[in-house]
Amino acid sequence: MKSIKEVDIANKKIFIRVDFNVPMDELQNIQNDARIKAVLPTLRYALDNNAKLIIASHLGRPKGKFIPEFSLAPVAKRLGRLLHTDIKMAPDCIGPEVKALVSGMKAGDIVLLENLRFHPEERKNDDAFAKELADLCDVYINNAFAVSHRINASVVAITKYAKVCAGGFLLQKETGYFEKIMAEPQRPVVAILGGAKVSDKLMALDNMSDHVDKFIVGGAMANTFLKSTGCSMGKSKIEKDLVEAAGAIIRKAVERGIKFYLPVDAVVSRRFDAKAATKIVPIYEIPENWMAMDIGPATSLLFTEVLYDAKTVIWNGPMGVFEIDSFSRGTIAMAHSVANSYALTIVGGGDTDVALHREGVTDRITYISTGGGAFLTMLEGKELPAVAALNNI
Ligand code: 3PG
Repeated sequence: MKSIKEVDIANKKIFIRVDFNVPMDELQNIQNDARIKAVLPTLRYALDNNAKLIIASHLGRPKGKFIPEFSLAPVAKRLGRLLHTDIKMAPDCIGPEVKALVSGMKAGDIVLLENLRFHPEERKNDDAFAKELADLCDVYINNAFAVSHRINASVVAITKYAKVCAGGFLLQKETGYFEKIMAEPQRPVVAILGGAKVSDKLMALDNMSDHVDKFIVGGAMANTFLKSTGCSMGKSKIEKDLVEAAGAIIRKAVERGIKFYLPVDAVVSRRFDAKAATKIVPIYEIPENWMAMDIGPATSLLFTEVLYDAKTVIWNGPMGVFEIDSFSRGTIAMAHSVANSYALTIVGGGDTDVALHREGVTDRITYISTGGGAFLTMLEGKELPAVAALNNI
């Protein structure tokens, strides 16, 4: 991938695709601006080199319609504050008004285009839409790691039409870091996988078994693995059609000498409800009408022990129903265990990221990815379509 550093951007209009898909509350207050801060080095570099910055992003899933709640206007304000400069908010991302706005730009000007996903063509990887975006600029820079697993017009098709294409610092850092770790890892390597579904993580488990020494599996996906070992699991969420596959994954891992750790106790509840009564039970003693909602304290201790000699830790996915306070302790405990470990630690994924921020331990994690789906795609060992598009020019 060519780097932004290898292209001439002075006095050029550069279209920088970023991922400003940040969490917002119902009043459009930004809840976490990590994704905005993560692209500042690329934006500052472009400003220092007298470029004209046209910044583009999606926000949420507005399904191809203009929906004010999904406007990027609050992001323009936050970005302006972070860069100590004025950001012009465009009324759209294509069309005559945008063209006029862009044609009057001077070096150092910044225009933030409105949400790309207000146009259905973005998600369809539409050529005509991609060309219209490309026609706005002299140079195209992809710095949107977190959406680079999507085959969308502004990250894939656009590379066919932009005169010059390159990667920004964040995209280079995210992909480069991960590749290096996978190629020459410091061992033991421990992969911690959590989240709701085994089906979401099957490919990652398969690919990671070529790289890791230990697996830790938590979250609701652990239920299906536990079921495959003969544990009854009460009325916990199980992916029945994947019980066999889960058993096969454990056997394959064990045959390869990989240690496979599952929860030994659970926080259980009768209902999926914040107000429901809870109790902690050993994993083989989940009552018939109760379900596992989080890992228990004995499991947190076990998982912490497993991390004790780790040299590399990769974590994706929560250990329980993290969004409900009474079921968040397992994920919180894991955040501290990962932060306290002496290993090189890489974390990716929405809830895991929120847990680290909530606990104030982000500065003790070696690398926090800005990607959720994109990070998982890398764990699956697949090339990201947007990166492939840049590499194949
Ligand atoms: C993300 O938040 O993972 C990216 O911005 C991609 O968003 P999407 O899942 O809506 O495509």
